[in-house]
Amino acid sequence: MPPAAPNPRDPEALTEEEAAAELADLAHRIAEANTAYHVHDAPIMTDAEYDALFRRNAALEARFPDLIRDDSPSKRVGDAPAAGFAKLRHGTPMLSLDNAFAPEDFAEFAARIRRFLGLSAEETLRFVAEPKIDGLSVNLTYDKGRFTKGATRGDGTTGEDITQNLLTLKSLPRRLKAPFPDSIEIRGEVFMTKRDFIAFRDEQARLAEERERRREAGERVGEAVRIPANPRNAAAGSLRQLDATITASRPLKLFAYAQGQSSEPVAETHSGYLDRLREWGFDVNPLSEPLPDEHAAEAFQARMAERRAGLDYDIDGVVYKLDRLDWQSRLGFVGRAPRWAIAWKFPAERAVTRLLRIDIQVGRTGALTPRAIMQPVNVGGVMVQHATLHNEDEVARKDARPGDTVELQRAGDVIPQIIRVVDPDRPGRADPWTPPTTCPECGSAAVRPEGEVVRRCTGGLICPAQQVERLIHFAARHAMDIEGLGIENVELLHRENLVRTPADIFRLKSHAETLRGWKGWGAAAKKGESRKVENLLKAIEDRRTPSLERFIFALGIRRIGAQNARLLARHYGTVEAWRDAMIAAQVIGSEALEDLNGIQGIGPAIAKELTAFFAEKGNRDALNDLLKEVSPEPAEAAATGALSGKSLVFTGSLETMTRQEAEARAESLGAKVVKSVSKRTDYVVIGADAGSKATKARELGLNTLTEAEWRALAGFPPAPAGPSGDTSGDTVVT
Ligand code: IVH
Repeated sequence: MPPAAPNPRDPEALTEEEAAAELADLAHRIAEANTAYHVHDAPIMTDAEYDALFRRNAALEARFPDLIRDDSPSKRVGDAPAAGFAKLRHGTPMLSLDNAFAPEDFAEFAARIRRFLGLSAEETLRFVAEPKIDGLSVNLTYDKGRFTKGATRGDGTTGEDITQNLLTLKSLPRRLKAPFPDSIEIRGEVFMTKRDFIAFRDEQARLAEERERRREAGERVGEAVRIPANPRNAAAGSLRQLDATITASRPLKLFAYAQGQSSEPVAETHSGYLDRLREWGFDVNPLSEPLPDEHAAEAFQARMAERRAGLDYDIDGVVYKLDRLDWQSRLGFVGRAPRWAIAWKFPAERAVTRLLRIDIQVGRTGALTPRAIMQPVNVGGVMVQHATLHNEDEVARKDARPGDTVELQRAGDVIPQIIRVVDPDRPGRADPWTPPTTCPECGSAAVRPEGEVVRRCTGGLICPAQQVERLIHFAARHAMDIEGLGIENVELLHRENLVRTPADIFRLKSHAETLRGWKGWGAAAKKGESRKVENLLKAIEDRRTPSLERFIFALGIRRIGAQNARLLARHYGTVEAWRDAMIAAQVIGSEALEDLNGIQGIGPAIAKELTAFFAEKGNRDALNDLLKEVSPEPAEAAATGALSGKSLVFTGSLETMTRQEAEARAESLGAKVVKSVSKRTDYVVIGADAGSKATKARELGLNTLTEAEWRALAGFPPAPAGPSGDTSGDTVVT
């Protein structure tokens, strides 16, 4: 749900009822946004939108103080802890900060401090300026100098116990360097650098695609993989893992910047406190700086805004804290925020530019992603000319068309997004964008299966964008199982242009000399590695006669996992029979298609993927080329067994065995069990209460068997005479 713009009406012009209704609405929307941000790590609005709602709420409350609600957002910070973690109460509440957006806001903040403390204009107000990192704030408790517990902010009073997770952070001191107070709470921000975030996000995206492919192939997959939208979400998601070993694998950093409860005073000024933090062993942001007076804030703000894009972590503003701690304690708090500190936010990183065209990127697994190419524009200090459009539904939703003026935003400082079209009513606009039906990389058909959001290239074996991924899959353990041909070597061989298609792997021996010349591969390799080339080539030779099911699986056709590959191998027996049947099955209504659809366990969606794969000449050519190098073994069941190669349909209820047992026996004897009756069906076993299939079988003059005849054919002993009338297919009567 896109958040609506805050109501622009002047609070003075509102009636009490109107204001009350709007405040209720704001409380609800802000609470939703809080939960999305703090509990689910999945923001539903931008910071700027959130701040606008917050300010609107404050403006209405200022005008109608009697209408301030118990659940007013101004009284709450963050949100409740998520389930799964123990709760930890903070020694002193972890509060939030009021925001400034302009020099006047800052001036008003300083003036308020003066008024409150009764200071004259001559008195100097010193502040410490600290970049405001967009991460996750944590509360760290040290008892007798030892780190004992750590918590998230949670709702400000109680957070989640993430002690174990925090222990995995390298920058978290386990022990404070002496001297230290008996007990102290130290607060700081956990974050991920932009560089680490990008690597992490790409890896997650790869894992998500891999999982998706396995899921579609009918394999078992673990939990969904989350692809974080920005470094903040990545840090939050990484820190709030119930399994701390996952946190340990994530590159998280910590800057300390504030204090909570302490058994004794540790400094007189905030800058002195930051020095203590450094002495104790914490990282303190090196850009933090004491300012000589309040007038220095504006220049510092400008300097940080300029440096922002070049920093390796996201900052969304600068926090200014009054340096004198005695003044801080006199000032105290109001509502959710201290009177002695303020967060001066940078303006939202937005810009307007022209959309030149929409390109398509093909991912390593064949997913087509639209990408906006724009007139380069400066967004918050970074030149931007590309933005992701995620998928074709999103393009339709935004209705972005070439030539449109679009508003851009850099979300979480890294990935630019198009927020909206500025001039949708412009005359002479281009037609709505339509997704391509062929892959821009290889020209194969690009199809979007019903009910899916992603369009994919069907040129699996020949599409350059997918080659590496396909090759990795082809050589992998459950596929062709070529030892020594893992991700790294496949990428290397592909990069060096020695292997482009699966068939190239088997021709690699003609490049043996080149391989031996590579650093670490040939004679000059370290001891133990010197046979690397020979070992690899031998591993390849050893795989020239894979089983048919491995071979089919290795081709990496969508939805054809190990299980489906086995069904196909058993049904068709030889690679030639399978290939020819798949080609024949292109024709709608063909017997080959009917036969394919009839295989137990192969549904129409799977049949579609198979026919789509074989519809591409490139794939057929690559397969035939591969078959010059490799000779898959015929599938076992088809080669032997009393019912070898026969197709068989069961209909009606069997009385002496379950359907499952009957099918398993038929398959073990080499038969293929199919669901529908056709001219090519060899046997139809007719049980009790059989319906239309039995009728059709008789009409076609097929071989029909009674249950007793089936038992005889399949080598079961004759059934003892049992009570009749039990027609349940699942009841076994022995
Ligand atoms: S001080 C009472 N200092 O901003 C003061 N906060 O809106 C509490 N933050 O929850 C916070 N950098 O997550 C402080 N140098 C900094 C900060 C900082 C980032 C975050 C923190 C806090 C939020 C307040």
